Amino acid sequence: MDRLSQLPEALLLRIMSLLPAKDVVATMVLSKQWQLLWMLVPKLVYDDSYQDIEYGRFSRFVDRSLTLHEAPVLDTLHLKLGKTSCGSGDIRVWIKAVDKRCLRELIVEFDSNNSSVVLPVSLYTCCRMLVTLKLNNAVLVDVTSSFSFPSLKNLSLVSMKYPGDELIKTFLSSCPVLEDLVVKRCLDDNVTIFNVRVSSLKFLVLHNKGDPDSGFVIDTPSLECLDIFDNSGEFCVIENDMTKIVKADVCFDNANAQQLLGSISSVKRLYLCVPFSKDAYPVGSVFHCLVSLTLCTCETEWLNLLMCMLRDSPKLRALKLIQDHSFRSESRPCWNEPSAVPECLLTSLETLEWVKYEGKEEEKELAAFILRNGNCLKRVTISSKSTDLKEKYEILKELSLLSRRSPTCQIAFN
Ligand SMILES: *[C@@H]1O[C@H](CO)[C@@H](O)[C@H](O)[C@H]1NC(C)=O
Ligand SMILES: *[C@@H]1O[C@H](CO)[C@@H](O)[C@H](O)[C@H]1NC(C)=O
Ligand SMILES: *[C@@H]1O[C@H](CO)[C@@H](O)[C@H](O)[C@H]1NC(C)=O
Ligand SMILES: *[C@@H]1O[C@H](CO)[C@@H](O)[C@H](O)[C@H]1NC(C)=O
Repeated sequence: MDRLSQLPEALLLRIMSLLPAKDVVATMVLSKQWQLLWMLVPKLVYDDSYQDIEYGRFSRFVDRSLTLHEAPVLDTLHLKLGKTSCGSGDIRVWIKAVDKRCLRELIVEFDSNNSSVVLPVSLYTCCRMLVTLKLNNAVLVDVTSSFSFPSLKNLSLVSMKYPGDELIKTFLSSCPVLEDLVVKRCLDDNVTIFNVRVSSLKFLVLHNKGDPDSGFVIDTPSLECLDIFDNSGEFCVIENDMTKIVKADVCFDNANAQQLLGSISSVKRLYLCVPFSKDAYPVGSVFHCLVSLTLCTCETEWLNLLMCMLRDSPKLRALKLIQDHSFRSESRPCWNEPSAVPECLLTSLETLEWVKYEGKEEEKELAAFILRNGNCLKRVTISSKSTDLKEKYEILKELSLLSRRSPTCQIAFN
């Protein structure tokens, strides 16, 4: 312990920031130096499941340590709560205790899916310096007074319940510099239209959970990264093209897929799984920046979608096909030789990676087509889905006999 005490104070504080609050406060008994030091730790994590402590003691401990804690800046307050006895009142007191401390990061998470702890109204008005706010599994209430989060950049709302659509609008419009938003919805969240209209937003994660009568409206013209997951057919309306988009992960079983894809046609790296939407392709779009495409092959439509994407992605360099979900349809896609060779095959496509290749007719045709026309192909990597060695061997033999246009193309099998 003496050797520890000789470390520079700044380093000790960093080490202590990584400990749960209970251990941090435990350092008080170690020595005089430590007794003063813990009060300066800039990050406090309170976990009510820690060492099975009884809730009353836990809450008194949080009260006292927050009152004693003296750092002028408290960067992070992280509350991990699971005990049913935790109520709104406690959280109100703790938020009040840190109100004057320039708190930058506040995380309040309840670990049961089913928690219905109502967050105090003071959440909206305290902590004007907050940069990050993460809430998990709790209930937000309506607030009549106006509020704002002038510094908030990262906001995460996971499995939250709301007092209705209006609060979300008010909340997001009171975050003028928000850059990063994560929304994972749960059933019964009491929201019909989740409006995401944030002109400063750069990163957006939207996961839906499956109420077919609800959906999203997205208006985020500065977005750079999108991760959208919706397999329940909810609606999703895009109000503005996202011309700054760089990366998108789209797993979308939704009638609005076409509009979504059309609005992200400037994307550079795209993951796409649009299983059931027959008309997902935004005819007339050109993916003029797309260099890397990963396409999920879990439904009949994948082949058609892929051929459209190849046709309209003149700079594509890397193509990956992967069966991320088990093949769900009875009917297999049908190969139609395109009337023209896509430009990317002639001038840019360098790698093809195919995960869970099955050797079905249309797969063979596609592989043959790409090898026959891929002028710049350098590497083709195929992993077969089959575990049967003999079958695997047959698949590989067939592939290795295909003619290749690019003399330097290497085929690797996994
Ligand atoms: C919480 O939700 C997860 C996933 O939705 C589920 O696997 C888990 O069983 C749930 N736990 C409880 C306590 O309901
Ligand atoms: C969820 O909450 C409801 C009502 O509060 C309760 O009846 C149910 O048992 C809870 N389920 C779980 C998994 O905790
Ligand atoms: C906010 O989110 C972005 C992107 O996820 C991340 O890079 C950044 O570190 C986050 N900032 C804070 C303060 O958590
Ligand atoms: C659900 O939202 C409506 C408004 O859309 C509101 O009147 C109602 O009180 C909300 N219910 C709950 C439980 O918050």
